[in-house]
Amino acid sequence: MNIAVIGSGGREHAIAWKLSQSKLADEVYVLPGNGGTENNVDIDINDFEMLLNFCRHNTVELIFVGPEDPLANGIVDYFAGSPVKVFGPDKAGAQLEGSKIFAKRFMREYGVATGFYQEFGGANKDCCQQLTIFPKDTIKKMNGKCVIKYDGLAAGKGVFVCSNEEEALAALDEIHQKYGEDASYLIEERLEGNELSILAFTEGDDYQLLLPSQDHKQLLDGDKGPNTGGMGAFCPVPFYNEELKKQIENDIIEPTMKGIKAEGFNYKGVVYFGLMITKTGPKLLEYNVRLGDPETEVVLPAMKSDLVELILSCFDGTLKDYKMEFNKGFFVDIVLVSGGYPAAYKKGIHICGLKEDQELIFHAGTKKVNFNLETSGGRVLNVVAHGNTLNEAIDKAYERVNDFYFEDMFFRKDIGRRNK
Ligand code: AMP
Ligand code: GLY
Repeated sequence: MNIAVIGSGGREHAIAWKLSQSKLADEVYVLPGNGGTENNVDIDINDFEMLLNFCRHNTVELIFVGPEDPLANGIVDYFAGSPVKVFGPDKAGAQLEGSKIFAKRFMREYGVATGFYQEFGGANKDCCQQLTIFPKDTIKKMNGKCVIKYDGLAAGKGVFVCSNEEEALAALDEIHQKYGEDASYLIEERLEGNELSILAFTEGDDYQLLLPSQDHKQLLDGDKGPNTGGMGAFCPVPFYNEELKKQIENDIIEPTMKGIKAEGFNYKGVVYFGLMITKTGPKLLEYNVRLGDPETEVVLPAMKSDLVELILSCFDGTLKDYKMEFNKGFFVDIVLVSGGYPAAYKKGIHICGLKEDQELIFHAGTKKVNFNLETSGGRVLNVVAHGNTLNEAIDKAYERVNDFYFEDMFFRKDIGRRNK
Protein backbone atom coordinates (compact mmCIF):
# COMPACT_ATOMS: atom_id res chain seq x y z
CA MET A 1 0.00 0.00 0.00
CA ASN A 2 1.02 3.62 -0.47
CA ILE A 3 1.52 5.57 2.75
CA ALA A 4 1.97 9.27 3.56
CA VAL A 5 3.87 10.48 6.62
CA ILE A 6 3.00 13.99 7.73
CA GLY A 7 5.73 16.18 9.20
CA SER A 8 9.31 17.27 8.61
CA GLY A 9 11.46 16.39 11.64
CA GLY A 10 13.76 13.61 12.80
CA ARG A 11 10.71 11.77 14.08
CA GLU A 12 9.13 11.72 10.62
CA HIS A 13 12.39 10.64 8.98
CA ALA A 14 12.54 7.71 11.43
CA ILE A 15 8.86 6.84 10.86
CA ALA A 16 9.31 6.87 7.07
CA TRP A 17 12.48 4.77 7.38
CA LYS A 18 10.70 2.16 9.52
CA LEU A 19 7.56 2.08 7.35
CA SER A 20 9.68 1.63 4.21
CA GLN A 21 11.08 -1.62 5.64
CA SER A 22 7.63 -3.20 5.71
CA LYS A 23 6.72 -5.80 3.13
CA LEU A 24 3.28 -4.15 3.07
CA ALA A 25 4.61 -0.72 2.05
CA ASP A 26 4.94 0.37 -1.59
CA GLU A 27 5.50 4.14 -1.86
CA VAL A 28 6.14 6.07 1.35
CA TYR A 29 5.66 9.81 0.81
CA VAL A 30 6.75 12.43 3.34
CA LEU A 31 4.75 15.67 3.49
CA PRO A 32 6.63 18.01 3.39
CA GLY A 33 9.71 16.07 4.65
CA ASN A 34 13.28 17.35 4.97
CA GLY A 35 16.72 17.04 3.35
CA GLY A 36 17.06 13.42 4.45
CA THR A 37 13.67 12.03 3.47
CA GLU A 38 12.77 10.72 0.05
CA ASN A 39 9.52 11.18 -1.88
CA ASN A 40 8.94 14.62 -0.35
CA VAL A 41 5.76 16.44 -1.31
CA ASP A 42 5.43 20.10 -0.41
CA ILE A 43 1.88 20.39 0.93
CA ASP A 44 0.43 22.48 3.74
CA ILE A 45 -0.18 19.75 6.32
CA ASN A 46 -3.17 21.57 7.76
CA ASP A 47 -4.90 21.90 4.38
CA PHE A 48 -6.96 18.71 4.63
CA GLU A 49 -8.69 19.17 1.28
CA MET A 50 -5.30 19.26 -0.47
CA LEU A 51 -4.18 16.24 1.51
CA LEU A 52 -7.27 14.27 0.53
CA ASN A 53 -6.73 15.18 -3.13
CA PHE A 54 -3.13 14.10 -2.88
CA CYS A 55 -4.20 10.75 -1.40
CA ARG A 56 -6.79 10.22 -4.16
CA HIS A 57 -4.30 10.97 -6.94
CA ASN A 58 -1.58 8.78 -5.48
CA THR A 59 -3.77 5.97 -4.09
CA VAL A 60 -2.51 6.59 -0.57
CA GLU A 61 -4.40 4.32 1.83
CA LEU A 62 -2.76 5.23 5.13
CA ILE A 63 -1.60 8.49 6.71
CA PHE A 64 0.75 8.51 9.67
CA VAL A 65 0.53 11.88 11.41
CA GLY A 66 3.83 12.91 13.03
CA PRO A 67 3.14 16.23 14.80
CA GLU A 68 0.18 17.18 16.96
CA ASP A 69 -1.31 20.18 15.18
CA PRO A 70 -3.09 18.37 12.29
CA LEU A 71 -4.61 16.06 14.94
CA ALA A 72 -5.71 19.00 17.09
CA ASN A 73 -7.16 20.57 13.91
CA GLY A 74 -9.29 17.47 13.25
CA ILE A 75 -7.55 15.59 10.43
CA VAL A 76 -9.02 12.28 11.67
CA ASP A 77 -12.54 13.72 11.72
CA TYR A 78 -12.07 15.24 8.23
CA PHE A 79 -10.98 11.91 6.70
CA ALA A 80 -13.62 9.86 8.57
CA GLY A 81 -15.85 9.32 5.52
CA SER A 82 -12.96 8.63 3.13
CA PRO A 83 -11.21 5.34 2.35
CA VAL A 84 -7.94 6.70 3.78
CA LYS A 85 -7.01 5.45 7.25
CA VAL A 86 -5.48 8.22 9.36
CA PHE A 87 -3.41 6.96 12.29
CA GLY A 88 -3.99 9.27 15.24
CA PRO A 89 -6.84 10.37 17.51
CA ASP A 90 -9.82 12.49 16.50
CA LYS A 91 -10.07 16.14 17.52
CA ALA A 92 -11.76 15.27 20.82
CA GLY A 93 -8.99 12.79 21.75
CA ALA A 94 -6.25 15.21 20.67
CA GLN A 95 -7.32 17.54 23.50
CA LEU A 96 -5.31 15.26 25.79
CA GLU A 97 -2.30 17.06 24.36
CA GLY A 98 -3.92 20.27 23.12
CA SER A 99 -5.18 21.41 26.51
CA LYS A 100 -3.20 20.87 29.71
CA ILE A 101 -6.35 21.63 31.75
CA PHE A 102 -8.42 19.09 29.77
CA ALA A 103 -5.68 16.49 30.33
CA LYS A 104 -5.49 17.11 34.09
CA ARG A 105 -9.28 16.97 34.46
CA PHE A 106 -9.28 13.71 32.49
CA MET A 107 -6.56 12.27 34.77
CA ARG A 108 -8.56 13.22 37.85
CA GLU A 109 -11.83 11.88 36.43
CA TYR A 110 -10.37 8.48 35.55
CA GLY A 111 -8.03 8.06 38.52
CA VAL A 112 -4.72 8.38 36.65
CA ALA A 113 -1.78 8.90 39.07
CA THR A 114 -0.58 12.50 38.75
CA GLY A 115 0.54 15.45 40.89
CA PHE A 116 -1.62 18.08 42.63
CA TYR A 117 -2.69 21.08 40.53
CA GLN A 118 -4.96 24.09 40.38
CA GLU A 119 -6.53 25.80 37.36
CA PHE A 120 -6.41 29.53 36.81
CA GLY A 121 -7.36 32.18 34.31
CA GLY A 122 -9.83 32.01 31.47
CA ALA A 123 -13.28 33.43 32.11
CA ASN A 124 -12.49 33.73 35.82
CA LYS A 125 -9.42 35.86 35.10
CA ASP A 126 -6.68 35.31 37.60
CA CYS A 127 -8.73 33.33 40.04
CA CYS A 128 -8.70 29.56 40.49
CA GLN A 129 -11.71 28.15 38.61
CA GLN A 130 -12.93 25.94 41.45
CA LEU A 131 -12.35 28.18 44.48
CA THR A 132 -11.50 31.76 45.27
CA ILE A 133 -7.78 31.17 45.38
CA PHE A 134 -5.24 33.46 43.80
CA PRO A 135 -2.20 32.16 41.90
CA LYS A 136 0.21 34.06 44.12
CA ASP A 137 -1.17 32.23 47.19
CA THR A 138 -0.77 28.84 45.50
CA ILE A 139 2.80 29.71 44.51
CA LYS A 140 3.57 30.83 48.05
CA LYS A 141 2.13 27.64 49.53
CA MET A 142 4.43 25.62 47.27
CA ASN A 143 7.41 27.83 48.19
CA GLY A 144 7.70 28.60 44.50
CA LYS A 145 8.57 24.94 43.75
CA CYS A 146 5.96 24.51 41.08
CA VAL A 147 5.38 24.08 37.37
CA ILE A 148 3.24 26.62 35.55
CA LYS A 149 1.72 25.50 32.27
CA TYR A 150 -0.13 27.53 29.68
CA ASP A 151 -3.29 25.61 28.75
CA GLY A 152 -2.93 25.52 24.94
CA LEU A 153 -0.46 24.12 22.41
CA ALA A 154 2.77 26.10 22.68
CA ALA A 155 5.41 23.91 20.97
CA GLY A 156 7.02 23.17 24.36
CA LYS A 157 7.33 26.87 25.18
CA GLY A 158 4.38 27.17 27.56
CA VAL A 159 5.84 25.17 30.46
CA PHE A 160 7.78 26.89 33.24
CA VAL A 161 9.54 24.71 35.80
CA CYS A 162 10.16 27.00 38.78
CA SER A 163 12.42 26.66 41.82
CA ASN A 164 11.38 29.74 43.80
CA GLU A 165 8.67 32.39 44.07
CA GLU A 166 10.58 34.91 41.97
CA GLU A 167 10.81 32.50 39.02
CA ALA A 168 7.16 31.53 39.38
CA LEU A 169 5.96 35.16 39.39
CA ALA A 170 8.12 35.88 36.34
CA ALA A 171 6.53 32.86 34.60
CA LEU A 172 3.05 34.22 35.34
CA ASP A 173 4.05 37.56 33.81
CA GLU A 174 5.43 35.84 30.74
CA ILE A 175 2.24 33.80 30.25
CA HIS A 176 0.14 36.96 30.46
CA GLN A 177 2.43 38.83 28.10
CA LYS A 178 2.56 36.03 25.53
CA TYR A 179 -0.97 34.70 25.70
CA GLY A 180 -3.00 37.63 27.04
CA GLU A 181 -4.54 38.65 30.34
CA ASP A 182 -7.32 36.04 29.96
CA ALA A 183 -4.93 33.14 29.32
CA SER A 184 -5.84 29.87 31.04
CA TYR A 185 -3.06 28.04 32.82
CA LEU A 186 -2.41 25.68 35.65
CA ILE A 187 -0.04 25.59 38.55
CA GLU A 188 1.06 22.14 39.58
CA GLU A 189 3.22 20.56 42.19
CA ARG A 190 6.83 20.16 41.00
CA LEU A 191 7.60 16.44 41.11
CA GLU A 192 11.04 14.97 41.56
CA GLY A 193 12.51 11.76 40.23
CA ASN A 194 13.55 10.13 36.98
CA GLU A 195 11.63 10.96 33.82
CA LEU A 196 10.49 8.20 31.51
CA SER A 197 8.69 8.19 28.16
CA ILE A 198 6.32 5.33 27.46
CA LEU A 199 4.70 5.06 24.04
CA ALA A 200 1.59 2.96 23.49
CA PHE A 201 -0.10 2.02 20.22
CA THR A 202 -3.84 1.79 20.82
CA GLU A 203 -7.10 1.15 19.00
CA GLY A 204 -9.07 2.96 21.69
CA ASP A 205 -9.17 0.19 24.30
CA ASP A 206 -6.36 -2.39 24.00
CA TYR A 207 -2.76 -1.28 23.61
CA GLN A 208 0.79 -2.45 22.92
CA LEU A 209 3.84 -0.76 24.42
CA LEU A 210 7.11 0.15 22.74
CA LEU A 211 10.33 -0.01 24.75
CA PRO A 212 10.77 2.69 27.42
CA SER A 213 12.97 5.66 26.55
CA GLN A 214 14.30 8.84 28.05
CA ASP A 215 14.55 12.28 26.51
CA HIS A 216 17.05 15.04 27.47
CA LYS A 217 15.09 18.26 27.24
CA GLN A 218 17.60 20.80 28.50
CA LEU A 219 20.26 22.35 26.31
CA LEU A 220 23.33 21.82 28.50
CA ASP A 221 25.05 18.91 30.21
CA GLY A 222 23.77 18.02 33.67
CA ASP A 223 20.22 19.07 32.66
CA LYS A 224 21.07 22.76 32.81
CA GLY A 225 20.07 25.63 30.57
CA PRO A 226 16.85 26.31 28.69
CA ASN A 227 14.33 23.69 27.59
CA THR A 228 14.61 22.56 23.99
CA GLY A 229 12.72 20.23 21.66
CA GLY A 230 15.07 17.44 22.85
CA MET A 231 18.87 17.12 22.80
CA GLY A 232 19.03 13.32 22.73
CA ALA A 233 17.41 10.10 23.85
CA PHE A 234 18.15 6.49 24.64
CA CYS A 235 16.24 3.23 24.91
CA PRO A 236 15.58 0.97 26.72
CA VAL A 237 16.00 2.51 30.16
CA PRO A 238 18.04 0.44 32.66
CA PHE A 239 15.93 1.25 35.75
CA TYR A 240 12.72 0.03 34.05
CA ASN A 241 11.71 -3.44 35.23
CA GLU A 242 8.65 -5.73 35.36
CA GLU A 243 7.48 -4.31 38.70
CA LEU A 244 7.66 -0.69 37.50
CA LYS A 245 5.95 -1.67 34.25
CA LYS A 246 3.06 -3.27 36.17
CA GLN A 247 2.71 -0.19 38.36
CA ILE A 248 2.67 2.12 35.33
CA GLU A 249 0.09 -0.05 33.59
CA ASN A 250 -2.07 -0.27 36.70
CA ASP A 251 -1.91 3.34 37.89
CA ILE A 252 -1.61 5.19 34.60
CA ILE A 253 -2.09 3.30 31.33
CA GLU A 254 -5.15 1.23 32.15
CA PRO A 255 -7.13 4.10 33.73
CA THR A 256 -6.23 6.20 30.66
CA MET A 257 -7.54 3.55 28.29
CA LYS A 258 -10.77 3.29 30.30
CA GLY A 259 -11.10 7.07 30.00
CA ILE A 260 -10.48 7.05 26.24
CA LYS A 261 -13.20 4.43 25.85
CA ALA A 262 -15.64 6.12 28.23
CA GLU A 263 -15.22 9.49 26.48
CA GLY A 264 -15.95 7.81 23.13
CA PHE A 265 -12.82 9.15 21.41
CA ASN A 266 -12.06 7.69 18.00
CA TYR A 267 -8.48 6.87 18.95
CA LYS A 268 -6.43 4.67 16.68
CA GLY A 269 -3.00 6.06 17.29
CA VAL A 270 -0.24 6.63 19.78
CA VAL A 271 -0.54 7.70 23.39
CA TYR A 272 2.68 9.16 24.77
CA PHE A 273 2.93 9.03 28.55
CA GLY A 274 5.46 11.54 29.94
CA LEU A 275 6.15 10.13 33.40
CA MET A 276 8.04 11.08 36.51
CA ILE A 277 9.12 8.10 38.60
CA THR A 278 8.90 9.58 42.08
CA LYS A 279 9.66 8.03 45.48
CA THR A 280 5.93 7.36 45.86
CA GLY A 281 5.60 5.74 42.46
CA PRO A 282 5.11 6.77 38.82
CA LYS A 283 3.13 9.95 38.16
CA LEU A 284 1.91 11.25 34.82
CA LEU A 285 3.23 14.68 33.81
CA GLU A 286 1.64 14.88 30.40
CA TYR A 287 0.02 13.11 27.49
CA ASN A 288 1.05 13.59 23.91
CA VAL A 289 -1.16 12.13 21.21
CA ARG A 290 1.70 11.21 18.88
CA LEU A 291 5.16 9.73 18.92
CA GLY A 292 7.76 11.75 20.86
CA ASP A 293 10.72 13.47 19.28
CA PRO A 294 13.62 12.49 19.78
CA GLU A 295 12.30 9.29 21.44
CA THR A 296 11.05 7.96 18.08
CA GLU A 297 14.58 8.00 16.68
CA VAL A 298 15.55 5.32 19.25
CA VAL A 299 12.33 3.39 19.91
CA LEU A 300 11.63 2.63 16.24
CA PRO A 301 15.15 1.26 15.58
CA ALA A 302 14.67 -0.85 18.74
CA MET A 303 11.42 -2.28 17.39
CA LYS A 304 11.71 -5.46 15.34
CA SER A 305 8.01 -5.81 14.54
CA ASP A 306 6.66 -4.53 11.22
CA LEU A 307 5.31 -1.01 11.81
CA VAL A 308 2.70 -1.19 9.03
CA GLU A 309 1.38 -4.48 10.41
CA LEU A 310 1.18 -2.97 13.89
CA ILE A 311 -0.74 0.09 12.64
CA LEU A 312 -3.15 -2.02 10.57
CA SER A 313 -3.83 -4.22 13.60
CA CYS A 314 -5.17 -1.07 15.32
CA PHE A 315 -7.73 -0.71 12.52
CA ASP A 316 -8.78 -4.35 12.11
CA GLY A 317 -9.31 -5.25 15.77
CA THR A 318 -6.30 -7.59 16.14
CA LEU A 319 -4.01 -5.32 18.20
CA LYS A 320 -4.70 -7.23 21.43
CA ASP A 321 -3.04 -10.37 20.07
CA TYR A 322 -0.31 -8.59 18.12
CA LYS A 323 3.07 -9.99 19.05
CA MET A 324 5.53 -7.17 19.65
CA GLU A 325 9.15 -8.02 18.97
CA PHE A 326 12.18 -5.93 19.86
CA ASN A 327 15.85 -5.84 18.91
CA LYS A 328 18.36 -6.64 21.60
CA GLY A 329 20.73 -4.04 23.05
CA PHE A 330 20.51 -0.27 23.43
CA PHE A 331 20.01 2.68 21.09
CA VAL A 332 21.31 6.21 21.70
CA ASP A 333 20.47 9.37 19.76
CA ILE A 334 22.56 12.54 19.94
CA VAL A 335 20.96 15.61 18.46
CA LEU A 336 23.27 18.05 16.67
CA VAL A 337 21.84 21.56 16.91
CA SER A 338 22.61 24.98 15.42
CA GLY A 339 24.66 27.35 17.61
CA GLY A 340 22.28 29.66 19.49
CA TYR A 341 19.35 27.21 19.52
CA PRO A 342 16.77 27.29 21.17
CA ALA A 343 17.05 31.08 20.72
CA ALA A 344 18.04 32.66 17.38
CA TYR A 345 20.43 30.73 15.11
CA LYS A 346 21.76 30.91 11.57
CA LYS A 347 20.33 28.81 8.75
CA GLY A 348 21.69 27.80 5.37
CA ILE A 349 25.01 26.48 6.69
CA HIS A 350 26.67 23.70 4.72
CA ILE A 351 26.71 20.32 6.56
CA CYS A 352 29.84 18.19 6.12
CA GLY A 353 29.92 14.42 6.49
CA LEU A 354 26.55 13.41 5.09
CA LYS A 355 26.57 10.57 2.59
CA GLU A 356 23.87 8.55 0.84
CA ASP A 357 22.43 5.62 2.77
CA GLN A 358 23.93 6.29 6.18
CA GLU A 359 22.04 3.95 8.51
CA LEU A 360 20.43 5.54 11.56
CA ILE A 361 21.14 9.16 10.70
CA PHE A 362 17.79 10.92 10.94
CA HIS A 363 17.58 14.43 9.53
CA ALA A 364 15.58 17.20 11.18
CA GLY A 365 16.43 20.79 10.15
CA THR A 366 18.18 20.00 6.87
CA LYS A 367 17.45 21.08 3.34
CA LYS A 368 18.82 19.96 -0.03
CA VAL A 369 20.14 22.89 -2.06
CA ASN A 370 21.74 22.00 -5.42
CA PHE A 371 22.74 18.50 -4.26
CA ASN A 372 24.25 19.93 -1.05
CA LEU A 373 22.76 19.71 2.41
CA GLU A 374 22.31 22.84 4.46
CA THR A 375 20.92 23.55 7.91
CA SER A 376 17.35 24.83 7.92
CA GLY A 377 16.36 24.58 11.59
CA GLY A 378 17.56 24.51 15.18
CA ARG A 379 17.72 20.76 15.56
CA VAL A 380 19.66 19.57 12.55
CA LEU A 381 20.64 15.89 12.73
CA ASN A 382 19.96 12.86 14.93
CA VAL A 383 23.02 10.63 15.15
CA VAL A 384 21.91 7.20 16.38
CA ALA A 385 23.99 4.16 17.33
CA HIS A 386 23.32 0.65 18.60
CA GLY A 387 25.34 -1.21 21.23
CA ASN A 388 25.08 -4.40 23.25
CA THR A 389 25.26 -2.30 26.40
CA LEU A 390 24.16 1.28 27.02
CA ASN A 391 27.80 2.33 27.42
CA GLU A 392 28.74 0.79 24.10
CA ALA A 393 25.84 2.53 22.37
CA ILE A 394 26.81 5.88 23.94
CA ASP A 395 30.47 5.51 22.88
CA LYS A 396 29.53 4.51 19.34
CA ALA A 397 27.09 7.40 19.01
CA TYR A 398 29.73 9.94 20.10
CA GLU A 399 32.25 8.36 17.70
CA ARG A 400 29.72 8.82 14.88
CA VAL A 401 29.21 12.47 15.82
CA ASN A 402 32.86 13.06 14.79
CA ASP A 403 31.84 12.35 11.18
CA PHE A 404 29.74 15.51 11.01
CA TYR A 405 30.45 19.17 11.10
CA PHE A 406 28.76 22.49 10.42
CA GLU A 407 29.67 25.96 11.64
CA ASP A 408 28.64 26.51 15.29
CA MET A 409 27.41 22.90 15.61
CA PHE A 410 26.50 22.07 19.22
CA PHE A 411 25.49 18.91 21.10
CA ARG A 412 25.30 17.59 24.65
CA LYS A 413 28.16 15.40 25.83
CA ASP A 414 26.24 13.43 28.48
CA ILE A 415 23.37 11.77 26.63
CA GLY A 416 22.47 8.46 28.31
CA ARG A 417 24.73 9.03 31.30
CA ARG A 418 22.09 10.38 33.68
CA ASN A 419 20.96 7.27 35.56
CA LYS A 420 24.26 5.63 36.16
P1 AMP B 1 5.26 18.98 29.55
O1 AMP B 1 5.19 19.79 28.29
O2 AMP B 1 4.03 19.03 30.39
O3 AMP B 1 5.81 17.63 29.34
O4 AMP B 1 6.47 19.60 30.38
C1 AMP B 1 7.78 19.69 29.84
C2 AMP B 1 8.79 19.23 30.85
O5 AMP B 1 8.64 19.98 32.05
C3 AMP B 1 8.63 17.77 31.31
O6 AMP B 1 9.25 16.87 30.45
C4 AMP B 1 9.34 17.84 32.64
O7 AMP B 1 10.74 17.81 32.47
C5 AMP B 1 8.93 19.17 33.16
N1 AMP B 1 7.71 19.04 33.99
C6 AMP B 1 6.44 19.14 33.59
N2 AMP B 1 5.58 18.97 34.61
C7 AMP B 1 6.34 18.76 35.71
C8 AMP B 1 6.05 18.51 37.08
N3 AMP B 1 4.81 18.49 37.56
N4 AMP B 1 7.10 18.34 37.93
C9 AMP B 1 8.38 18.39 37.48
N5 AMP B 1 8.71 18.62 36.20
C10 AMP B 1 7.72 18.80 35.31
N1 GLY C 1 10.09 14.36 23.57
C1 GLY C 1 8.96 15.05 24.02
C2 GLY C 1 7.97 15.35 22.99
O1 GLY C 1 7.99 14.84 21.90
O2 GLY C 1 7.08 16.15 23.26
